Amino acid sequence: MFFRLAGFAPIVALTLGLTAWAADSNDSSPRQQLLMDFGWRFHLGDDWGLGEKLEKAGASSGPAGRSFGDAGWRKVNLPHDWAIELPFDSHADANHGFKPLGPGFHKNDVGWYRRTFSVPETDKALRFWIQFDGVYRDCRVFFNGWLIGHHESGYSSFRYDVTDLVNCGGENTLSVRVDASEFEGWFYEGAGIYRHVWLLKTSPLAVEPDGIFVYSQFPNNVPEGPATINLEARLKNAQSNAATATVAWEILDPEGKTAGRAEQSEDLKPWAAEAVLQQAEVSAPALWSPESPNLYKLVATVTSGGKVVDRTETEFGIRTLAFDADKGFLLNGHPYEVKGTCNHQDHAGVGAALPDALQYFRVRRLKDMGGNAIRTSHNAPTPELLEACDRLGLLVMDENRLLGSDAANMALLEGQLRRDRNHPSVFIWSLFNEENQQGTEEGARCAASMQRLAHSLDPTRLCTAAASEGDVFEGVNGVLDVRGWNYHIGAEDSYHKKHPQQPEIGTEQASTLCTRGIYANDKVRGYMSAYDDAGPNWGNTAEAWWQVYAARPWLSGGFVWTGFDYRGEPTPYGWPCINSHFGILDTCGFAKDNFYYYKAWWGDRPVLHLLPHWNWPGKEGQDIDVRCLGNSEEVELFLNGQSLGRKSMPANSQLKWSVKYAPGTLLARGFKAGQVIAEEKLETTGTPAAIKLSADRTSIHAGNEDVSVITVAVTDDQGRVVPLAGNLIDFELTGPGRIIGVGNGDPSSHEADTFIASQASHKIALNDWRMRRVPDTHRRAEVRENFDDSQWDKADAQSESGPLAPEESAVYRTRFAATPDELAAESLAISFGMIDDEGWVYVNGHLAGESHDYSSQTSFEIRKFLHEGENTVAVAVHNWSGPGGMNKGVALEIPDKPVPAHWRRSAFNGLAQVIVQAGKEAGALHLTAHAEGLAEASIDIASADDSTQLLLP
Ligand code: GAL
Repeated sequence: MFFRLAGFAPIVALTLGLTAWAADSNDSSPRQQLLMDFGWRFHLGDDWGLGEKLEKAGASSGPAGRSFGDAGWRKVNLPHDWAIELPFDSHADANHGFKPLGPGFHKNDVGWYRRTFSVPETDKALRFWIQFDGVYRDCRVFFNGWLIGHHESGYSSFRYDVTDLVNCGGENTLSVRVDASEFEGWFYEGAGIYRHVWLLKTSPLAVEPDGIFVYSQFPNNVPEGPATINLEARLKNAQSNAATATVAWEILDPEGKTAGRAEQSEDLKPWAAEAVLQQAEVSAPALWSPESPNLYKLVATVTSGGKVVDRTETEFGIRTLAFDADKGFLLNGHPYEVKGTCNHQDHAGVGAALPDALQYFRVRRLKDMGGNAIRTSHNAPTPELLEACDRLGLLVMDENRLLGSDAANMALLEGQLRRDRNHPSVFIWSLFNEENQQGTEEGARCAASMQRLAHSLDPTRLCTAAASEGDVFEGVNGVLDVRGWNYHIGAEDSYHKKHPQQPEIGTEQASTLCTRGIYANDKVRGYMSAYDDAGPNWGNTAEAWWQVYAARPWLSGGFVWTGFDYRGEPTPYGWPCINSHFGILDTCGFAKDNFYYYKAWWGDRPVLHLLPHWNWPGKEGQDIDVRCLGNSEEVELFLNGQSLGRKSMPANSQLKWSVKYAPGTLLARGFKAGQVIAEEKLETTGTPAAIKLSADRTSIHAGNEDVSVITVAVTDDQGRVVPLAGNLIDFELTGPGRIIGVGNGDPSSHEADTFIASQASHKIALNDWRMRRVPDTHRRAEVRENFDDSQWDKADAQSESGPLAPEESAVYRTRFAATPDELAAESLAISFGMIDDEGWVYVNGHLAGESHDYSSQTSFEIRKFLHEGENTVAVAVHNWSGPGGMNKGVALEIPDKPVPAHWRRSAFNGLAQVIVQAGKEAGALHLTAHAEGLAEASIDIASADDSTQLLLP
């Protein structure tokens, strides 16, 4: 049977990409998508419970409330992962990388985030959404004190319409309580708001979020002649009057020239949503593929009542997809072998919180290896990974987290399908990974329902699932479009014989165990040899699985477990090993030797690679197992100029020599048709003498987001990387930017990945209070700066409970002198142990904060209200019931001089990595690396102005 896919599809990268789209000057569309990543405050610890108040709306308590003072909390930017900041702990969960959170580590389970922002009065007529691309996990979101949502999944994107709650012309507060105490996977998952947050504004009549769908079709799915472009814009008329709207679509080709147009009008009822459909034609389209990632742009302009009310831009690609039971996967009409890797989402130094530029870095590394596909195991990816795959050219198997057709699971799947279906890189949906119910009838029914949903929302792609079963048709395999194979090498032929009509794909293979630069298994240190010799009992070596797949076109190729090492799952050893060994690349993206196996047989360029390194002091005269990876027809090996023989390279294999060690040069020459096409040498190096720095990009964009990935190498005095060097290296960065993470790929390193500048503060207790009862707390003269309180009673602000009877109010006052030093501080807060029940805090007569929750400690930023000399604090307190007042102490919190973070990391087998992020302002960044006994090194990175990013102030 021949499965046809109607076209392909892409998405609104634009609504999701970092270069947020906004109306340009000659376009009156009010749509704006503003990045909310900056200016957050963060607190680790479950000190306030859930924050929600179920008795009354909009009255959330503690940090969930609007008036809560968070001035004492740490400042953070997103994306943020607090798990990466925690030390390793041998008692913590091994699968999650021995980070002390989750079961048994309650104190690190819950984090609170807060930020405030203002919205102009002129936005009053607009609609507002707050969109989260991913929060790990189980979060409650509060906006201006209202609970607006509870989202459990740590991997799906979600958004809330907050139009009714926005304070236009004033301040707005967003609070998020994140609870990472439960796991969703068996691998490192991070903790916190680890993807972007956006504020989306549109006019009342506008395209709904994720409301654009665009896909192409060719007659008979043969990509010849013009392509039909199917266009859909789902409009919402959030108004009390009916309206007519016209959508004008313009398709821009990869050069930005108009390639097609269409238009369609629709009558919209009040408060109704409607899909507006049309088709356009693109003649002689430039097809999308990993090799030529040609992107078109769809601009949809919506007019109503003679005015432009909305405008969206969506990147998409034109291509055909098909699966054939005999030929395997076909891209643009031709058999296309999938050369993919499965990947989790963490990287060295930053955990799960990857800046977008790191997604691009990782995609480039996979492409460098000859890879053409990625599986987003085992969850919905961050949108920027898809954007990177669209733009750089990598196919994506887009995976859903769990099997299940209950309403909650189907809603998550639907959100993922709608969000991701415009991306040309996505070529198949994977509905789940290795479920216990995969072989049962109910499992099959659930999978069928999910597949039905996918087909209804996306006529262009088929579905598979990562099934860990051999020759088994019962259960999910019997109902899915494409049979997915996790492992079970050897069972494919009999399955294929019995089910010759079903296309197949290798969803997960290999699980080869290797540590970069290590050539003997070492249980004590937790290392595995990098020779391609070991898989776990369910897995295989690179050579073993690829030989099977390369010989069977109907298998469509497949995905290696994994491209990059990831934290957690330290197989086969546990502690001290804290991450997996499955990667072809380590956690930094440094190549293990297997990288060259894949590059040789997946890529199209000559490859020649020798292993191990050639530094074996003490082993002179002993046999060393030398391997050659590459794709030459023949290879000749020389030791110190002497030939050790020429051998023919079998396809998809490697060559081996046993060589008696002598220091010097091991040289390989690769031949094709008798001609030398490649040469590679290994030299015995000297001892560590210097540091060498190189950057993936030496020019990045200012704006707090972009990063440069710096490779740190320890070399000998001739500039050769010393294979076993482990020197501890210190780093310093000057200029407008910061280091955000360091790593070295060592699966057993317990060094810190991130260092946090000390934001310590000291407290000065305010004990000298006077108090007077007042009839109410409204506009009291007693709170003014110079009110005479000399006749008032002294008050004890440190008692456990206060003197006020139910329904009594009072004003408390004190004075303190601010020194020039204190006034020079960037911030200065006042913190209260307990204001019982409600309080309004005035500093020199200015309202600095309100507290409506007697059970919360709270602190308010007051720096801007202070002046030299004597300052006055007045607190108007109202007690509702029981004893009340101002208790448990009041203090000024004065930040100490910040102690900058001291960044350092050891090299592992000669290499380490530093991730440098641009600051807000443009300028020259200068990274210096030094270590005892090594010549220091430095590198310059230019951070240039980037005006395309729209930030929420
Ligand atoms: C698979 C599983 C992956 C990972 C891998 C390790 O069975 O799908 O998530 O655990 O094994 O080999």
